[in-house]
Amino acid sequence: MSKIKKLRKAIFPVGGLGTRFLPATKALPKEMLPVNSKPLIQHIFEEARASGIEEFIFITGRNKNAINNHFDHSYELQDILGEKNKQLELDLTSNWLPDAGSIAFVRQYEPLGLGHAIWCARNFIGDEPFAVLLADELLLSAEPMLKKMKDIYDKNGGNYVGIMEVDKDQTSNYGIIDTANKNEDLVKITSMIEKPSKETAPSNLAIIGRYILQPEIFALLEKASPGVGGEIQITDSMNKLLETDNFHGVKFTGKRFDCGRPMGFLEANIAYAAENDAGELKEMLKKYI
Ligand code: G1P
Repeated sequence: MSKIKKLRKAIFPVGGLGTRFLPATKALPKEMLPVNSKPLIQHIFEEARASGIEEFIFITGRNKNAINNHFDHSYELQDILGEKNKQLELDLTSNWLPDAGSIAFVRQYEPLGLGHAIWCARNFIGDEPFAVLLADELLLSAEPMLKKMKDIYDKNGGNYVGIMEVDKDQTSNYGIIDTANKNEDLVKITSMIEKPSKETAPSNLAIIGRYILQPEIFALLEKASPGVGGEIQITDSMNKLLETDNFHGVKFTGKRFDCGRPMGFLEANIAYAAENDAGELKEMLKKYI
């Protein structure tokens, strides 16, 4: 068996326009929307770091500078907090920052799709495996989902996507996988298709926004033609990759919040508030419902 290369790098595609959240996202990147006072992108970054990722590559676009600034020191704010001895607030601004030199921002000039965004990171990934985390999917679980996937990767190598069951009516919102062993936690994937209708979907197992991929995907992305929605879809190239390499789905068993939708975002905030202070939340909600 060939040597399993260490998984060290992660890509965060954050170039999306966030049209489902207008007008909030006219000037504010959707990835900066807060869940429990913390921007979505910081939640996802922390999941990656807690999973052992050491290098972080953000694929950004125009109007996304707030993300760059968030992952930097804020000297004026830190000075003021320091003078006032506000240690807790000071820690919240900066003690979670990645080490200098372990973070990179790459511009995706045109929004040509998720596959294209990932391809834009090819020179920074080189010949190594890498993870991809989609910032609008918040996953709540005791063990970080990417860590669960990485532990399996570290033993076996290959390619992985996070998967979970969705309603049959929802398949046209996701990449859907096919497998012979649907009921297991780790499934061998036999094919994948992006956003199939419920009539044509091979299963109801949807790809959620966590991936571990081998660098061979870049050669496939290079040649990829636009797929669903006229976009270069990562699912199409992954479907080609599984013809020559191992590809598995890892089931997610925690709570998933689709924070790209206003109701999903609200639910994530409620879930976090319930964890912090269920009593206060209940009292507040009673006023309205
Ligand atoms: C993307 C992927 C899709 C995946 C989904 C998860 O779609 O293309 O395969 O199931 O994320 O949220 P998007 O939501 O960007 O349309």
